[in-house]
Amino acid sequence: MTTFVLALLVFLSILCATHVLTNKDDFLYVNITILQSATAQGAVCLDGSPPAYHLHRGYGTGFRSWIIYLEGGSWCESIPDCLDRSTTSLGSSNHMKQHDFFAGVLHNTSKQNPEFHNWNRVKVKYCDGSSFTSDVEQVHPENKLYLRGARIFKAIMEDLWSKGMKSAENAILTGTSAGGLATMLNCDKFKCLLPESAKVKCVADAAFFINSKTIYGTSYIQELYRKIVNLHGLTKNLPSACTSVMEPSLCLFSQNVIPYIQTPLFIINSIYDSWQVK
Ligand SMILES: *[C@@H]1O[C@H](CO)[C@@H](O)[C@H](O)[C@H]1NC(C)=O
Ligand SMILES: *[C@@H]1O[C@H](CO)[C@@H](O)[C@H](O)[C@H]1NC(C)=O
Repeated sequence: MTTFVLALLVFLSILCATHVLTNKDDFLYVNITILQSATAQGAVCLDGSPPAYHLHRGYGTGFRSWIIYLEGGSWCESIPDCLDRSTTSLGSSNHMKQHDFFAGVLHNTSKQNPEFHNWNRVKVKYCDGSSFTSDVEQVHPENKLYLRGARIFKAIMEDLWSKGMKSAENAILTGTSAGGLATMLNCDKFKCLLPESAKVKCVADAAFFINSKTIYGTSYIQELYRKIVNLHGLTKNLPSACTSVMEPSLCLFSQNVIPYIQTPLFIINSIYDSWQVK
């Protein structure tokens, strides 16, 4: 009897899961836009290929509202590390998928996304390894490697601006993990791009990495951040009010940089964030 009940429950849960997953309205794939023109400004991925994003247009009451999601995916901290990354989708638009899956705040049904389903929704591909903040003219003559995250952010925002963001009434910049850090670091720049009358907010998700020591007592994250800042030439793109009072790599820590961000910023973070715990 118990076995039968268990089997029935398993069967029913599979049936329910299958039903949810096969409801075709639940899948939204959006084609890629490769921004060829950005290469003229030197706004390129690690391998020199043009940057990319996915845009799904808003309509109705959401027509003049925009939500921009910056993809995450850690960072690269050395030339060999960045060269490795340049052969993957996190470093080259030649390796990105033709279409990407939109879910949650990027979805277009009110069931999955009650607040933003009819907004213009954008996923910006992460291909610079520096949270959209690097800007180095030439890394090393013999390495075909480009560190241009800040230019990518600017080029893509300008392209979206010409596609309607210039008349935005509401705009949210958001992102997860390294994309959440990018959200904080680019929040005020984003605000500056938009009309003065627009309501602009930033939401950093799973990016409040604290400056703590490992269980061995080493400063792993601080060391990592120092390498990233030095390699990617980040100092000039971090808020100068922060870098003028502390070592620039410390300005990658949310706890230190947030006081210098002027645009309203919301934080979503688990106490047990898996990257931080590791
Ligand atoms: C997306 O790309 C595919 C394949 O390149 C194409 O067939 C399809 O029409 C495109 N969809 C839209 C909405 O542009
Ligand atoms: C969501 O987008 C898809 C693909 O563009 C479209 O076919 C579908 O009708 C949209 N759903 C709603 C509720 O707007």
